[in-house]
Formats: sequence, C-alpha cells, structure tokens
Amino acid sequence: MDLEHSPAWGALKNLQDSHKHTTLMEQFDLDPKRVERFTLRFDGLYFDYSKTAMSDSIRSALLSLADQQDLDGQKRALFSGAHINNSEDRAVLHMALRAPHTAAYHVDGQNVSDAIHDTLNQMRSFCRDIHDGVWRGHNGKAINTIVHIGIGGSDLGPYMVCDALKDFALSNMNVHFVSNVDGAALSQCLAKINPDESLFLIASKSFTTEETLKNAESAKNWFLNKTGAAHSAIAKHFAAMTVNIDAATTFGIAPENIFGFGDYVGGRFSLWSSIGLPIALYLGFDKFEDLLRGAHAMDQHFLHAAPHENLPTMLALIGIWHRNFCGYESLAILPYAQNLNALPAYLQQMDMESNGKTVDRHGRSLPYPTGPIIFGASGTNGQHAFYQLIHQSQTIIPCEFIAFKTALSPLKDHHDALLSHVLAQSRALMIGRAAEANAPEKYFSGNRPSTTLIAEALTPYHLGQILALYEHKIFVQGAIWGLNSFDQPGVELGKILAKEIAGALPAIKNGASTITSFDPSTQNMLDYLYKD
Ligand code: F6P
Repeated sequence: MDLEHSPAWGALKNLQDSHKHTTLMEQFDLDPKRVERFTLRFDGLYFDYSKTAMSDSIRSALLSLADQQDLDGQKRALFSGAHINNSEDRAVLHMALRAPHTAAYHVDGQNVSDAIHDTLNQMRSFCRDIHDGVWRGHNGKAINTIVHIGIGGSDLGPYMVCDALKDFALSNMNVHFVSNVDGAALSQCLAKINPDESLFLIASKSFTTEETLKNAESAKNWFLNKTGAAHSAIAKHFAAMTVNIDAATTFGIAPENIFGFGDYVGGRFSLWSSIGLPIALYLGFDKFEDLLRGAHAMDQHFLHAAPHENLPTMLALIGIWHRNFCGYESLAILPYAQNLNALPAYLQQMDMESNGKTVDRHGRSLPYPTGPIIFGASGTNGQHAFYQLIHQSQTIIPCEFIAFKTALSPLKDHHDALLSHVLAQSRALMIGRAAEANAPEKYFSGNRPSTTLIAEALTPYHLGQILALYEHKIFVQGAIWGLNSFDQPGVELGKILAKEIAGALPAIKNGASTITSFDPSTQNMLDYLYKD
C-alpha cells in the first residue's frame, strides 16, 4: 500500500491541524508533566523535544507509522548486512567499524570484524610510529604535519572531527584539509608547510574522484620538485585510504601505506573507517577509539531501546512530522560550540545526499517530499547572521539546538554566557513577543518549534554518540519514506557534463568555431571565457 494512503499516514493527516488550536506555551500550562514526558536521557545525553507541537496522540501516531513501515525489520536488515543499498547492491555496515572485535557483523556470509580490526591495528602502529618519531621523512626529519586530500564524505567528516576536537590535539601535530579542485586550496596549504616534515593522506573511497586525484597529483609533483628527493621518497610521505587498492598503487602509493575498508561503508559514513586516519594522527589513536566507542554506544541504544525512548527514532519522527505534516521545508542545525562550526556542513551532506530523492527504493515516484534543506552555523555567531529570518519571517524553520553542559575552554564564564544564549533562543522561538503600539516590527509570532540536545562535554566519546545519532536518524527517515538513503545518483550528471566540457576545451582554446553541441547559454559562456 502507498505510504500516503496508509492508515498511519491518514491518522497523522487528521492530526496535522490539531496542534494549531493551542500554543506551545498553553500546552505547558495544560500539562505540568510536559517536559518530563517529552525529554529523553541516555548515557550523558539529554534531549528535550517539549518545545515542538508533540502531543501524546501525535507521538503515538508517529510511532504507529514507524511500526507500519516495519522500522524494526528494516533496522534488523541494516545490521544484518542485507544489501539495503539496492541500487548499488551493497550492504550498509559502517556500524561494524566501531564495534568491538568480538562483535560479528556479516557481509555476504563473511564476518568482517577481523578485516576491520586488522586495519585498526595497521592504523594504530602507523600512528605510533609517526608519533614516536620511528617513521621519518626522506631526509630523516620527524613528521609533524598531515595534509589530508579528499572531498565530500572523504573530507567533511575527518575535517569536522579534527576541528571539533582540537582541544585534544597532540601538541606536535598539525593538520590541513584540501578538498576543492580550485588551485587556491592546495596552493595556500602548500605555502604553509615544510615538505620534509609532511605526510600527505589521499582519501578517496573510489580513488576515481577528479578533484582528489588532481590535488593528489599536484601535491606529489610539488613534493618531488620542492625536495628534489628521489621518487622512492614518496613512500615516506604519501599514504592512501581507499577501497580501490589497485588505483592507489597505480598512483604510486606504497602498498604498505594503503589503508583499506569495505565497500559496505558509504562515503558520508566513512569517518569511522581508515578515512578517519587524520583524526587518529592529529588527536592520538586512543581518542579515535573513544570516538568509535561513543558511536558504538549509540548503535546499541538505537538497536535495543524501545521506539519512544530511542533518540534517533524520536529525532527522525519529529523531522517527519515537520516535513510531511507541517510542511516545513528546512531544518537549522545550531550547535552552541565554536568547535562545531563545521557540523552543519557535515550533516548537510549526510542528510541531503542520503534523503534528497524523488523516487522510492523501487524507482517509483515519491508523492511526498523527503529530506529537508539543512543549514546552520555555530551559536552565537548564527544569531548575528540568519536568526532574524528564523524568528520573524513567514517561513517556519524547525531548529535543532546542540549544547554542552561543561566547557573545555578555561574561560568558564564564557560558557555561562553561551548557555544563556542557547536557552534564550529556544525560549524566544516559543514564547514570541506581543506587538507594541506603533512598533509592529517588534512582534514575534512565537510558537516556533525547536529541540535541544545537551551532552556532558564536547569529548570524542560524546561527539561519537551525536554523529551516530544523526546517522541513525537519517536511516529511520529514509526507511519510513521507503527510499534508498545510501546512493547518490543526483551527483553523477554534473560530473559527466564537466568531463564533456573539459574535453571540449582544447579545441575551443585552439580557436575551433563555436561548439554547437552545448546549449546557447553554455556556448556563450565558453566563448566569453576562452575566446573573447
Ligand atoms: O559527491 C559524491 C561523492 O560520491 C560522495 O558521496 C563522496 O563522499 C564523494 O563523492 C567522494 O568520493 P570518493 O571518496 O570516492 O573520492
């Protein structure tokens, strides 16, 4: 049966106006236990969704929807290694990467735990050798600089985690990330580093991504020119993380410097794999393990907690309520932590690349909208940028606030200020402000939904929990919408057309008459760029 004609969907449709008769503030007055009933706690995390329109009836209708869509069965299929990424015929098992060695995760009948822990051991000894100065560069200098080259899922995760946890960084390690094919990115990085003390990590699941290969090639040429070292020096300064071992070897990476992972790890879920090597090098391997432990704790919670007490499930269901029954198109992710400034961009890829689809997993057109438009920035900076629209425009944007109980920064009074702001924002969105005579611009409608997630502190463990929470949220939403959250065919067309244009450039530059196979607008721009 089509989802939108199903009983659970119909029940939610019937409820979609129910919350419009009372404001959020009235809901609190009517129910002194509201906060208690709409707050969850798990292992150092506190999640308050009482400032959404949630009611008992909406929540139970959403839980029936999850039940009707066999969320439990889909979850079991995910963890069992079934090929739930059906268009690419692959399992989706990034959870296996953060499980203890004793856990048995199977892909096509094979337990993958041994291979995962072999790679973890390879990463552990590599980190130890670099940190202890056992591994040295071509002229005997110790390595103190990591240059990570990758893009999309092979960049956003490691970059965000290194940035988020820089308070834990080893004092003698620096890390740089280069992703954009714009030469400005690589040249600015190269201008800052000493090649003798640098290690280049080439991160690409496929090892075919144009931007990454171009940056890697230019970095290799720069290294050889700058040092004047023999080609064999590459083995001391370049490593790769990839599924495509052959391509990395052909590129010139020494086989012992290649860190593999399984194709059951999607790019945007890959920071837990060897793609996370810069994290381990920058913070120390023990911190990387703490990150994995936090994510594993969330996996277990997601697997075993009852749906109404299950953080990823509830966060996902609130999102479905907002997207499909309230018609809210966007979602703001607002971490109140300077070091999480890169989190919204990371979650933007994870969510929009996963659930921004128009067909279901059987290729049928979806009659309802799916993934929201994700944006955000760290608080309090965002308050001075885009919050005006969130508070007063006619477009309602649900907000997901993220905060931390304890500050890691020594300036503890700043943390009180920061927390005051995050609490004030969700409160302002809810209570609004009455119009004043002759000052209509001061009116805030209020009654705008938000959730707040509070973790003990921005540690590797809690960050691991939060990232896995969002991964599972996205899985739950995709499962309910009936789509494949694990492919990304929407990025292919642009890549093909860019190749076509790049292929035409030599002829255009050589003065060939206007290429007529492009549309008139593209043709004119090519003329403007290369002929005028
Ligand atoms: O943008 C498309 C994409 O395939 C992402 O899903 C992926 O994270 C990124 O490109 C990089 O791919 P790779 O790791 O294969 O270089």
